[in-house]
Amino acid sequence: MSKSRVLSGIQPTADSFHLGNQLGALNSWVDLQAEYDCFYFIADQHAITVEYDPEVLRNRTRVSYAQLLALGVSPEQSTIFVQSQVPEHSQLAWVLSCLTGYGEASRMTQFKDKSAKGGAGSASVGLFTYPILQAADILLYQPEFVPVGEDQRQHLELTRDLAGRFNGRFGEVFGLPKPLIVKATAKIRDLQDPTKKMSKSLPTGCLFLLDDPKKIEKKIKSAVTDSETVVRFDEENKPGVSNLLSILSAYSGESIADLEVRYEGQMYGPFKTEVAEVVVDFAKGFQERTNELLADTGALDQQIASGATKARSVAQQTLDAVYEKSGFLR
Ligand code: TYM
Repeated sequence: MSKSRVLSGIQPTADSFHLGNQLGALNSWVDLQAEYDCFYFIADQHAITVEYDPEVLRNRTRVSYAQLLALGVSPEQSTIFVQSQVPEHSQLAWVLSCLTGYGEASRMTQFKDKSAKGGAGSASVGLFTYPILQAADILLYQPEFVPVGEDQRQHLELTRDLAGRFNGRFGEVFGLPKPLIVKATAKIRDLQDPTKKMSKSLPTGCLFLLDDPKKIEKKIKSAVTDSETVVRFDEENKPGVSNLLSILSAYSGESIADLEVRYEGQMYGPFKTEVAEVVVDFAKGFQERTNELLADTGALDQQIASGATKARSVAQQTLDAVYEKSGFLR
């Protein structure tokens, strides 16, 4: 029996992935490879929905791809590609756009958040229709699961709605993909304001994996906690400490309950030191692997191109079925 599929994507909108990306999504990407036929991609077309610099984007796309490989996403096991090299994404997005209600698109909270940041009226139509492109990204590969962080849940719901609507109107083409959200790390929080999610748009509280290890250590040691001195998991009353516990547990494999026992009667200092140690330890190896891959862009670009060829062979089949049902001349 053939393996069922997994698909996910990440935007190349920063010079480095951050710890929220890693723990919320990318670690699952790596783990799922053993059991599933995985498709992972760099969402460069999503990155142009806001203002950007073309050369910076090109560079970040390569750096993002190299980071995936350095994390353990394997081109032997999985199909790893760059979205703009697979034109079927935009082609399917158009068909799905024509099935999406204007009000339905307006309800996407990420659009509301992002467009609010840029000031009223400055948001592009691309940013508005972005979740429809995301639905196309997913449905082209007919995946069973989509490993993502909590902030993507609403986009997955839209994807399922659009798949069901297409099937209902034109005949069965799509399965309904399910989000795969690891609860313990679904929302890693900002280190300076733990009521917010960690995000590249708030760099002071964000741990970038390619940052200087000294900077990573400093950010962790100055993470906002609370006025108690008890290392206890309580997301509501102690979001900062709980966030650090989630991070340490994810990196070390030690359960949160065990960590609470181990730190009983201790202050926050030694606790933060251990969190910093495990993250820095990881970051050093990760940076080394990423830099090695980036040293040979020719080889990297070849790998990217062969990822696109593999992805297209699947994407074309789905688009073909969609065009047939949609009434386009074949
Ligand atoms: P992006 O690039 O913002 O984030 C990539 C992945 O990281 C997760 N994530 C987090 N998880 C936990 N805590 C956090 N603080 C945190 N911040 C980010 C995100 O949930 C995501 O899984 N729209 C997507 C990219 C995309 C996509 C797709 C994803 C485009 N097409 C198709 C899945 C399927 C995005 O902007 O993710």
